[in-house]
Amino acid sequence: MTESKKTMLSAVAPSNRLTVGNYIGALRNWVKLQDQYDCWFFSVNLHAITVRQDPTELLEQTYRAVACYIAAGIDPKKATLFIQSQVPQHAELAWVLNCFTYMGELSRMTQYKDKSLKQGQNIPAGLFNYPVLMAADILLYQTALVPVGEDQKQHVEITRDIALRMNNLYGKDLFRIPEAYIPPVGARIMSLQNPLAKMSKSDPDPNGAVYLTDTNDQILKKVKRAVTDSGTEITYEETKPGINNLLTIQAAITGKTIPEIVNSYIGKQYGHLKVDTANLLVETLGPIRDKTDELMKDRSYLLQVLEDGAERARERAGQTLKEVYRRIGLV
Ligand code: TYM
Repeated sequence: MTESKKTMLSAVAPSNRLTVGNYIGALRNWVKLQDQYDCWFFSVNLHAITVRQDPTELLEQTYRAVACYIAAGIDPKKATLFIQSQVPQHAELAWVLNCFTYMGELSRMTQYKDKSLKQGQNIPAGLFNYPVLMAADILLYQTALVPVGEDQKQHVEITRDIALRMNNLYGKDLFRIPEAYIPPVGARIMSLQNPLAKMSKSDPDPNGAVYLTDTNDQILKKVKRAVTDSGTEITYEETKPGINNLLTIQAAITGKTIPEIVNSYIGKQYGHLKVDTANLLVETLGPIRDKTDELMKDRSYLLQVLEDGAERARERAGQTLKEVYRRIGLV
């Protein structure tokens, strides 16, 4: 039934708990688009170890990420859900692609530049090669669409470049050339404490990000304390990044346009916008958090979904890898 549908694939790195940025920029769109595509969603734990992880927390977060996908509305009967390290073809294809990727193109990756700055003298080579593993993730499944936030656009572009290079060398039908899907609203949710920086899982300030594990009370407190400018009028403009961020969160979740939302705040104060946004997030994220907790408690269901998923993924990824080896001349 799903065979005639194009493939959609995406993933989250379980390097920490997921944030509302991951939810709005990625997860929500996976849910919206899932019926139109043959879907593959996974937890990229091999990507997570490009920065140091505590082993116990990494295990927990790897499972929690997939539990979150289901809690947010991904139907495990329709989508294939799995964990990257359970499908060895990802690491195998990544090696091959590494041999067809240039140091120059990898050194231009914005995320590498940002993340490597935080590593001091010893930058893991894995951080540099990170986009190659992501290219392998995508190309193994002959993916048509990759729904991601703005920060991953460059990684989908390099994936396309690598795929085109390989296709030119080994045959036009080797890899399908994927497209990124970047949502029109909410592709870059900003930190609540510094609205000029992206909201990040690894924000050292826990008040900068709303995590999908946060209690209702924590969500309310964080959003009410969100940093804004010293003005009073609620409008969407460049000089008001904190206000823009709250308006964007509302627009992404409610589906209303920014001007509609701005109009509903005529004569109101920043405080009103903060309280409404906080309540909206509690209403939206509360049930996802509770459902995730339930799934994490009844681990047997999750483990079964992941075992089935990994089997399907190995099968599909295996076909592509076999063809790559054959065309390159690898025994
Ligand atoms: P990761 O784990 O950093 O983020 C997961 C998804 O969330 C999006 N995102 C955001 N969107 C809006 N606002 C934000 N503040 C925000 N922060 C994160 C990201 O764009 C992403 O869509 N390398 C990827 C994971 C990955 C992947 C893949 C994705 C590995 N292989 C194959 C797609 C296809 C990453 O680290 O995302």
